[in-house]
Amino acid sequence: MTLPSTPKTPTVILTGDRPTGPLHLGHYVGSLRNRIAYQHDYQQFIMLADAQALTDNMDDTGKVHRNVVEVALDYLAVGIDPAKSTILIQSQIPELAELTFYYLNMVTVARLERNPTVKQEIILRGFERDIPAGFLTYPASQAADITAFKAALVPVGEDQIPMIEQTNEITRRFNRIVNQDILVECKALVPEIGRLPGTDGKAKMSKSLANTINLGASAAEITAAVKKVYTDPLHLRVEDPGHLEGNVAFTYLDAFDPEQAALADMKAHYVRGGLGDSIVKKRLELVLQEMLAPIRARREELAKDRGYIMQMLKDGTYKARDVAAKTADEVKAALGLRYF
Ligand code: TRP
Repeated sequence: MTLPSTPKTPTVILTGDRPTGPLHLGHYVGSLRNRIAYQHDYQQFIMLADAQALTDNMDDTGKVHRNVVEVALDYLAVGIDPAKSTILIQSQIPELAELTFYYLNMVTVARLERNPTVKQEIILRGFERDIPAGFLTYPASQAADITAFKAALVPVGEDQIPMIEQTNEITRRFNRIVNQDILVECKALVPEIGRLPGTDGKAKMSKSLANTINLGASAAEITAAVKKVYTDPLHLRVEDPGHLEGNVAFTYLDAFDPEQAALADMKAHYVRGGLGDSIVKKRLELVLQEMLAPIRARREELAKDRGYIMQMLKDGTYKARDVAAKTADEVKAALGLRYF
């Protein structure tokens, strides 16, 4: 008789989004498609970081509330499976706030002010001297998010790498203070194919730049967005040789066209001259319409059953809370904060 092998505990992944708007193609390339792949082999937690979103959205709490459901719909519509991935709402796990409170004693204000992600975001938001304290200290909260689940891998964009570094500093500091290995160090998983440019040619697709194509975009919205896609400003006549660098139409086709061999031919023709932008855009429109139609249909179907979405979020959040509560309990005990 062969003994059953001990089940391997799968590596834990923690990832998340601030729910401040619907997700777009940039999210799909940067994180969603990886999450769809990871969920088969890892224990994946996906956090709707609504509490973090409030650190710079106190003037519009309704936006954050609404987008929790919108982003959850996006997740399910693209193929994140709640039976495989645990989707959770940050604010509903008070142990995360509790952990943050203790971690704040393990970072200095100077270190928070030096965190490049925070620095960059302060400039972006024009906070200048009026930085909400919760915003400045959100790296401690993000460290709580990650360590509460003892995540070993944290898929993030490049801009978030300093967050992971600071999380590991807190982890090491804590483990040293209590002289036990309670928290787990993590590794950032940065996608190789970085970010998708905006339709306007700017380096990043972003809601605030109004250069996105949302995953739930209507057919008409896709048509309008493709019309505006930035191509080659020097390609004035069809017979002129065209350029591929910075040409967003081709960047999108690289990312999404299932027929890459035909695309290679099209690129060669474009560079040679004799291929107009309208043909390229026609192809792009077809590719995007075909890619997004089933996502939109699934999203609309799911949106009809809000009860199901809320129950899914509740189940995921409760499951995650059990894990976070266990870590918070260990952390407090190690700090001498267990009395009864
Ligand atoms: N800060 C992340 C972002 O803006 C969102 C986030 C919150 C997150 N908590 C996290 C990402 C924990 C990874 C791990 O995109």
